[in-house]
Amino acid sequence: MITFPKDFFWGAATSAHQVEGDNCNCDWWEWEMQGAAREKSGKACRHYEYYQEDFDIAQSLNHNCHRISVEWSRIEPHEGEFCDAQISHYREVVSALRQRGIEPVVTLHHFTNPLWFSRKGGWEQKSSRAYFVRYARRIAEALCDKVSFWATINEPLIYVYEAYLIGAWPPQKKSLSAAHKVAHNFSCAHIQAYKAIHALYAQKKLPAPKVSIAHNIRAFVPCRDSLKNRLACYLRNKYFNFSILDTLARHHSLDFIGINYYSRDLIDLGPWDISGILMGTCKKHHDILPKNSLGWEIYPQGFYDLLIRLKKYNVPLFVLENGACTDDDALRWDFIYGHLKALSSAMQQGVKVQGYLYWSLVDNFEWDKGFGPRFGLVEIDYRTFERRIRLSAKRFAAVCKSGTLE
Ligand code: FCB
Repeated sequence: MITFPKDFFWGAATSAHQVEGDNCNCDWWEWEMQGAAREKSGKACRHYEYYQEDFDIAQSLNHNCHRISVEWSRIEPHEGEFCDAQISHYREVVSALRQRGIEPVVTLHHFTNPLWFSRKGGWEQKSSRAYFVRYARRIAEALCDKVSFWATINEPLIYVYEAYLIGAWPPQKKSLSAAHKVAHNFSCAHIQAYKAIHALYAQKKLPAPKVSIAHNIRAFVPCRDSLKNRLACYLRNKYFNFSILDTLARHHSLDFIGINYYSRDLIDLGPWDISGILMGTCKKHHDILPKNSLGWEIYPQGFYDLLIRLKKYNVPLFVLENGACTDDDALRWDFIYGHLKALSSAMQQGVKVQGYLYWSLVDNFEWDKGFGPRFGLVEIDYRTFERRIRLSAKRFAAVCKSGTLE
């Protein structure tokens, strides 16, 4: 039997645009309306209205922690104009978690931008940093008496990759120089927001908050041993997994490291070309590991290996996302079980971890993939918005309750 620490955080995560519904003042919504996305987010899960019911479910599943994101485009619908009603809404949301004994983890930016901000050039502009920090300060001020854990930016490098390198997400650019600028602005924005949030708590004489990013880490595995494949894995680990953490750690702006882990890339390269080395994956048909419904391989070993490598930063880790989309709920439980075992093995090797949040509490709008992929512990019927608790959720609930895994 595996035993986790007594004070471990257990729960699940969501993000505003993916669950709330009618999030009509952000760049994703506009993009969906232009017909660019496979599906429109529309009412999503109607979580904006049903958050109390969803948190009742989380509580019934023994979750003691829950990650949400607050939606910048609701909070600051026009440049410099903050909306008190929306700020109150999010105060009620975090209060609803607290009332249920659930620790909130609040993300400030989860892929969506207010329209006014994206029209000004979004994250490519240096001014993005100041805009973001002003918003961060405003919402931190409103929630500081109720929130200790903050993730400033969700998966900055996934956003850069999808929106500025391969052009799959708005604003659909394919530009190395824009990608570089956005990545740099994200790092600077985080560092400044980190300082602003800490200064605010100090000024209010509140206990110091715990501020980080939610960082996607990915396992890179060569299919066969060759110099080129080894070099590609080395470079991807460096640029995708570690570079941003190195920068943020150098600026002492990580109180913990928020980790999102899903899968691996198998690497087997042909010709020597830079995009192949940085982005190419093996095209051969490997049928070695089980896959989720998006074809991502389920590879807990990669989670273990990366957790061990993250020990060097000497700050606690917090798993802010880990999950599988599948129509086979037994596979979802296998996924959770395998990753919890890997997590516990890493902890036995001295890796400090504060908690584990499954992605996601409910099925939701999976960005450009639409509503097809089902990541939820809880199934959503998108016609009636009825919630149905899956068996995997109940099995995970037993772990959350006992802190042990049979
Ligand atoms: C992560 C995102 C999250 C969700 C999962 C499946 O990259 O942070 O919003 O889409 O993937």
